[in-house]
Amino acid sequence: MALPNHNRKVVLARRPDGMPVKDDFRLINDPVPEPGPGELLVRAHYLSADPFQRMRLDASSRYGKTLDIGDVIKGRLVGEVVRSNNADYQVGDFVEGMLGWQTYAISDGSTARAEYAPGITKVDPKIAPISAYLGILGFPGVTAYFALLEVCDPQAGETVVVTGAGGAVGSLAGQLAKIRGCRVVGIAGSDEKLSHIVDELGFDAGINYRTTPDLLAALRRDCPERIDVHFDNVGGDIAHTIVHHLARNARVVLVGNISQNNLAEKPSRPDVTGLLMTARAMTKGFIVYDWEDRADEARNAIAGWLAEGKIRYRETISEGIDSAPAAFISMLQGGNIGKQLIRLDDL
Ligand SMILES: NC(=O)c1ccc[n+]([C@@H]2O[C@H](COP(=O)([O-])OP(=O)(O)OC[C@H]3O[C@@H](n4cnc5c(N)ncnc54)[C@H](OP(=O)(O)O)[C@@H]3O)[C@@H](O)[C@H]2O)c1
Repeated sequence: MALPNHNRKVVLARRPDGMPVKDDFRLINDPVPEPGPGELLVRAHYLSADPFQRMRLDASSRYGKTLDIGDVIKGRLVGEVVRSNNADYQVGDFVEGMLGWQTYAISDGSTARAEYAPGITKVDPKIAPISAYLGILGFPGVTAYFALLEVCDPQAGETVVVTGAGGAVGSLAGQLAKIRGCRVVGIAGSDEKLSHIVDELGFDAGINYRTTPDLLAALRRDCPERIDVHFDNVGGDIAHTIVHHLARNARVVLVGNISQNNLAEKPSRPDVTGLLMTARAMTKGFIVYDWEDRADEARNAIAGWLAEGKIRYRETISEGIDSAPAAFISMLQGGNIGKQLIRLDDL
């Protein structure tokens, strides 16, 4: 297969101030790299837009090394091996990994993933379309699976509240809680998302946090037995309000705090630790990389439920690498239903 002249890359042009804008990113062309001994060349088919990428754009981050100006945007892709000097990978194999927002990427074949390392995993297009390995069968899926089922261990009849419910992680977490026999209430930012999670995915109720003036009153209405499990994808004011309606022995899994990631200034809030104590709540932080050695267990279980039609997923797809910054910004602002992806068939 002949390769094009250029490897197209999205690089960091400058650090965002609050919510990113398109000028924070730049598209550049570099020569397509040649794989060295033991290396392989991957042609990207889909890029992934994920909330964690925002934190990597700041000068300092709690989540490992940040990018320097001019660096390729750290991000996942799924693609096809087009050259290989590594006996473990054949031309035509499909792989997923943190290989950056670019059309062609070199990998050394390592499978190490911890701390955002660029390890790759082979994916099987016979089980699901390759894009699914960035969403429901990828890290968002593994996150929902372990954070809900292992950390919170919801029981039949309990009430589970999922925030970020219309997105990649939240939409699966809610469906897994339904499979467990729970009452599931999703919180999301548009009526279209609520109709998706309730009418298509089977959540019991949905609350639009953007148009609900009194979130606590809405939670009291939709969770009459209080909240046994809070799957927290967003943090901030929404998470603080939910604390006021936790049931005794509630479990709160802290998965993400996207509501805080684009703020130029951090707000001060009243302390809620007393409420957590009164509820005897268990609160646990979750990082998906701690579960990497069991990721196949999650993927296999999710793939089984997908095949049985017990769970569904949506993707929001933009076209071409030029659209990656806009797709990323749109996702941060709630423009996606399900997993936000960028399809690259204009190579
Ligand atoms: N701990 C881990 O290992 C791990 C792994 C993967 C993901 N995560 C976290 O899980 C969360 C969901 O990730 P995802 O990949 O599934 O993203 P996603 O939900 O598909 O997309 C992000 C969503 O966040 C919502 N959002 C943005 N600003 C918000 C705000 N101020 N308040 C409330 N919601 C807001 C938007 O939906 P609305 O329209 O509803 O506002 C947007 O669609 C993120 O916080 C992410 O960082 C953590």
